[in-house]
Amino acid sequence: MISPSSFGFVADFLLRETAMVCEPGKEYLVEARLLPLARAAGVADVDRYVDLLRTDAVERGRAADALTINETSWFRDLAPYQAFTDVLLPQLLAARQDRRHLEIWSAACSSGQEAYSIAMLLDESLPPGWTYRIHATDVSPTMLERVRAGRYSQVEMNRGMPANRLVKYFTRVGREWEVSADLRRTITTEKINLAAPLPGIGLYDFVLLRNVLIYFDVDVKRDILRRFRARVAPDGFLMLGSTETTLDLDDTWIREAAGRAWVHRPRQPAGVRPATGTATATSPATPSTSHPTRLTTTGA
Ligand SMILES: C[S@@+](CC[C@H](N)C(=O)[O-])C[C@H]1O[C@@H](n2cnc3c(N)ncnc32)[C@H](O)[C@@H]1O
Repeated sequence: MISPSSFGFVADFLLRETAMVCEPGKEYLVEARLLPLARAAGVADVDRYVDLLRTDAVERGRAADALTINETSWFRDLAPYQAFTDVLLPQLLAARQDRRHLEIWSAACSSGQEAYSIAMLLDESLPPGWTYRIHATDVSPTMLERVRAGRYSQVEMNRGMPANRLVKYFTRVGREWEVSADLRRTITTEKINLAAPLPGIGLYDFVLLRNVLIYFDVDVKRDILRRFRARVAPDGFLMLGSTETTLDLDDTWIREAAGRAWVHRPRQPAGVRPATGTATATSPATPSTSHPTRLTTTGA
């Protein structure tokens, strides 16, 4: 088992480099993630490997990459995707009639299922003549490489990819499934560390920042939400994970119900209203039966 001092060193540098909090109790995870790197570096065990990390910044980058939690799936939690097609997209289509283009950011995109899920919905829902780009970013270079490759194992496909979309958007390549070149062309990738100043990447109509704030402490969450405020268009939307919220963290966001999900919109100065708006509600509505449901989880 990794020694307490090695574990402390790893937790400290992970916090410094990615803001991820690695609490005592996670020793088994750190050991399991670092052991293959120790073997590749030709050292006897994880403690010797951590000694190497103390002096080798390149190896620390590899270790940080290996320690990220990349849990994800297609159309994860369904409700946010349903909200996107049923509630957010109609408003964005009305608001962006002039430029007929949507800019979307999947921040902390992991291996890309979130970005490609949105790409499929847009491919199916955008009127002719409209274009879009999805900027997929993560702190992990390995994950970004996976987004660019667009290849997924059968086990990954079984996690939420409906059979009709598997047939429509994927080709079998050996033991994997490869997403179509048309969808891959709509996705750009960039390494962005949410804990560091954000590069000047423009304004987005829809930002997904899902299932990553949970790894940060309160101050880092607050700081990220404040900085994202400047990246979401005044009439755009921010979607967090189902257990994440801006409540008690940053009151420059308005939290609104969109179908069965919550979305966040930049609060406007008094007297200024964004061009479009969802109905503010105290809780997300029960599923609407009047909307045709295009989201299914029929296994592949
Ligand atoms: C649990 S996954 C969430 C993936 C996807 N958003 C979803 O909801 O399915 C969390 C992702 O956050 C990334 N991450 C962790 N710390 C980060 C940071 N400081 N900056 C950017 N991404 C980070 C990890 O590499 C990982 O891919």
